[in-house]
Amino acid sequence: QLAGLKGLMAGTLSLAIVTTAKYFIPHLIGDFSRKFPQIDGRFHVGNRQQIIQRLRSGEDDFYVFSHPPDSDKLDMMALLPNRLQAISPLDHPLAAGAPEQLVSLEAFCRAPFLMREEGSGTRHAIEVHLSRLGMAPNIRMTIESNEAIKHSVMSGLGVSVLSEHTLAFGEQQGLAVLNVEQLPIVTHWYLAWLKDKPLSPVASAFLDYIKQPGREQIDLKESSGSLNRVLF
Ligand code: PGA
Repeated sequence: QLAGLKGLMAGTLSLAIVTTAKYFIPHLIGDFSRKFPQIDGRFHVGNRQQIIQRLRSGEDDFYVFSHPPDSDKLDMMALLPNRLQAISPLDHPLAAGAPEQLVSLEAFCRAPFLMREEGSGTRHAIEVHLSRLGMAPNIRMTIESNEAIKHSVMSGLGVSVLSEHTLAFGEQQGLAVLNVEQLPIVTHWYLAWLKDKPLSPVASAFLDYIKQPGREQIDLKESSGSLNRVLF
C-alpha cells in the first residue's frame, strides 16, 4: 500500500518531541521523506512539559514522550527503549573502577548532582525512581539542557543521570558511565496522537510506515546495543 503511494503523497508531517528523542526521530523522518520525497517533515523539540502544552493545542500530527501524560484522549505505540545512565567525570572517585565496579546508590546520591529543569521527563523519571527507593539526589545545579549537563559533568562539576542517547554522539572524553545499584532507569519512548483528531493522509502514511513489520516494535526487548542496529 505504501509503495503504491510513493512519490504521490505531498504535505507536511509535524512532530513534537522531547529532547532525548531528537537523536533518533530525525533519522526516522529522514528515511520516511526519502521514500516520500514531496513530504515536508517538521519537528519541534522541547521538554516533557512543553510537549504536553503542544499536545493540548493539538497542532502537531504526532508527539513523542518517554513519560506520556495519562490521558484517555491519546492513542499510543511504544518505540525504542530509553535508558537513563549514571555518569560522572572520568577522574571522579566513583569512577575509579568504572564501568565494572558496582557503586552504591547511597554514595551516588551523596555526590553533587546536575539536574534537568522542572518540566523535564528525565528529571521526573529520576525523582520518581529514587524516591521509590527512599533516596534523593544531592542537587547542586539545575541545567536546562542535556548537552550542557554532559559538558558540565565532563568539566568536573558533578554527576548526573542522562538518556544514553544523549551520550551516544559527540565527544565523550572526560566522561564515565557508572555501574550504580538500581540504575539505569529503563523507560520507553512512545509515539502518541490525539484520538479525536483525524489523521491527514501524510500522517496516516507515516503511521503505516512506523507500523511496518519489524519496525512497529522498534524492539521493545532490545534494552542495549546500537541505536542503528535497532532502527535500520
Ligand atoms: P525531557 O525529555 O527530559 O527533555 O523532558 C525526556 C523525557 O520526557 O523523557
